[in-house]
Amino acid sequence: MAAWSGPQAGKFQTRRGAISTTGEKPDRYAVVGHPIEHSRSPVIHQLFASQTGQNIVYELIDAVPEAFETAVRGFAAAGGKGLNVTVPHKQAAYELCHELGPEAEKARAVNTISFSADGRLRGDNTDGIGFMRDLTEILDEPVEGRRVLVLGAGGAARGILLPLVEAAPGELVLANRTIERADVMIGELDPTDSLSARTFAALADEPPFDIIINATSAGVRGEELPFSPNCVGPDTLCYDLAYSLKDTPFVLWARANGVREAAQGWGMLVEQAAESFFIWRGIRPDTAPILEKLRR
Ligand code: ATR
Repeated sequence: MAAWSGPQAGKFQTRRGAISTTGEKPDRYAVVGHPIEHSRSPVIHQLFASQTGQNIVYELIDAVPEAFETAVRGFAAAGGKGLNVTVPHKQAAYELCHELGPEAEKARAVNTISFSADGRLRGDNTDGIGFMRDLTEILDEPVEGRRVLVLGAGGAARGILLPLVEAAPGELVLANRTIERADVMIGELDPTDSLSARTFAALADEPPFDIIINATSAGVRGEELPFSPNCVGPDTLCYDLAYSLKDTPFVLWARANGVREAAQGWGMLVEQAAESFFIWRGIRPDTAPILEKLRR
């Protein structure tokens, strides 16, 4: 955890999402990222607030990396109560926070900041909790004793890897285009014997996995996915951490290779948001109807 450093150069923009249900001044929250226009977080938190009768506004803040710290400080100084942090700032948020929840500490990444009255920043990471709830409770997919493959060793993989280890898979493989990055991540995350790194090429020699999670951004520019079809089979569940109104490239790839089920990250998105909302407001929203609404 770093101490405050000097104000950073750069610009950030905020955009107000409207949620005020009473005459009282609402508490302000926001999500900060770059790009941020696509974020569904304002809609989700608006639905949570309506459901639970909380008086909040939830805004979008577009900040390039050099402007991240200024954006966080500015929002706190303007009376903001908390921030969600998304790509590419989760590790910068970890460095900035004075106090960390256990999941953020282990993942070295923060997606939820809470401002205290004395100006201190508390950082939590709800990505892993949100992902595991979707996988094991909503999709009803057990992890214990199973062979699990995580594709990608960037920011998206960081929050989910340790919760997966803690769920005691029989084997957990982390594959990445750049193998060194996978090795570093495994080293940082307190490895166990069940966790090992592979190149994408080495996956061609693996028998099909039970669960495959895509944490890469491969395919978003229309390029072919670099994963071997040998690692999926008719019993495989494929889960894409990304979400889209259409099928994602990874979901299309999985279906084309005959997997049992292919899911994208809507459930994780709503569950991690619910956990952030709980941290800030002390109330746990009912996520099922909200997930249903978003999917429609
Ligand atoms: P971040 O690190 O902020 O999560 P990123 O740089 O887009 O975002 O990378 C996310 C993951 O997608 C990384 O594992 C990256 O692999 P590298 O570590 O080798 O860069 C992976 N990735 C991105 N584009 C890819 C592609 N076309 N093929 C395979 N993997 C890709």
